[in-house]
Amino acid sequence: MQQLHPDDVLWRNARLATMVTDAPEPYGLTERSAIVVRGQAILAVVPESALPSGHRNSVDLGGRLVTPGLIDCHTHLVFGGNRAAEWEQRLKGVSYQAISAQGGGINATVTATRNSSAEALLQLAQQRLQRLMNEGVTTIEIKSGYGLNAETEEKMLHVARQLGLNNPIDISPTLLAAHAVPVEYRQDPDAYLSLVCEEIMPSLWQKEFFEAVDVFCENVGFTPAQAERLFLAATALGIPVKGHVEQLSNLGGAALVSRFNGLSADHIEYLDEAGIQAMAQNGTVAVLLPGAFYFLQERQRPPVEHLRKQGVPMAVATDYNPGTSPFASLHLAMNMACVQFGLTPEEAWAGVTRHAAQALGRGATHGQLRAGYVADFIVWDADHPVEMVYEPGRNPLYQRIFRGEAA
Ligand code: NIG
Ligand code: FE
Repeated sequence: MQQLHPDDVLWRNARLATMVTDAPEPYGLTERSAIVVRGQAILAVVPESALPSGHRNSVDLGGRLVTPGLIDCHTHLVFGGNRAAEWEQRLKGVSYQAISAQGGGINATVTATRNSSAEALLQLAQQRLQRLMNEGVTTIEIKSGYGLNAETEEKMLHVARQLGLNNPIDISPTLLAAHAVPVEYRQDPDAYLSLVCEEIMPSLWQKEFFEAVDVFCENVGFTPAQAERLFLAATALGIPVKGHVEQLSNLGGAALVSRFNGLSADHIEYLDEAGIQAMAQNGTVAVLLPGAFYFLQERQRPPVEHLRKQGVPMAVATDYNPGTSPFASLHLAMNMACVQFGLTPEEAWAGVTRHAAQALGRGATHGQLRAGYVADFIVWDADHPVEMVYEPGRNPLYQRIFRGEAA
């Protein structure tokens, strides 16, 4: 190990679950280890025995478990109102699609979001974010998509940015202006898409309000041809793409995302073999969203076995939103991914660390405990990482370290 500076911090006497790819042990578990932090980054991960004695800046973790900070790579955290009444209707037998066709669903949240001030949205989102941070989330993706006009899409992304300035967390903002056709464009969805491609996307991109563009490609959203048009416009500006695809039906959206070297194809319950092949070839991450699957009482499971066989990296996220996944818990999402989709707990952990980082284009800096990576990690009062997956709600978080600082 190189010479230490006096300001380097040794987080020592820990059991690490490094989550590195090539580790000999499951979860990258190593006993009696230490993380050496310089500034905001991990300088080295070393056995206790390799540490110099007498370094003044050291923290004894008492043998506790340390994992990378959790990454929630798919959320709709910023919105006004809630959809509890709609949910009651759904429990009486009205479908998500039928509610959406009646102007409810996403459009109901659009109205509530347009009618909320940025301050009010920020206050609501802050509470939701706090719950995720309490569970150890250090990076979160936040989508727009409840504005569906230039002004409100910008307001949502402004709130997302503000959350990052106010909290010890990394925000990855995504433009989802193509989430639904707004009521005022119901007769002419292509005209709305033109507005997105020609005005909303370029102007918010120029103002650096987001990192990637998303689309809801579905029979209640946009057609594959419309999604392709959006992706062509995004690619021309150098914007990475991703998609809500194959959630309720198979329209070939995942293959489309992959063709544009997309970061991730999300939901993918109805993904077929051709879609899996395309994802495998292009390194597109499969983002599994078991909260929405559960809440919509879906039957069709994503093809986990095939994704595994083809080596497609699988991430797990909350999809926190008022319509299909009102669960601000990544531990719960991990549990559901195992119970409902058949992931192993180790795959669920990779899904909220290494693979979630990859889904956000941050695979080279986030989601693993290794030299050169950002010093985001969580100290747990737990013996083994399976515990957080096994028992969501207990939350044995002991300490949260963000960019090298306890926070
Ligand atoms: O990820 N599928 C589209 N978007 C959200 C649902 C949004 C809503 O119903 O408000 C999702 O499930
Ligand atoms: Fe979503």
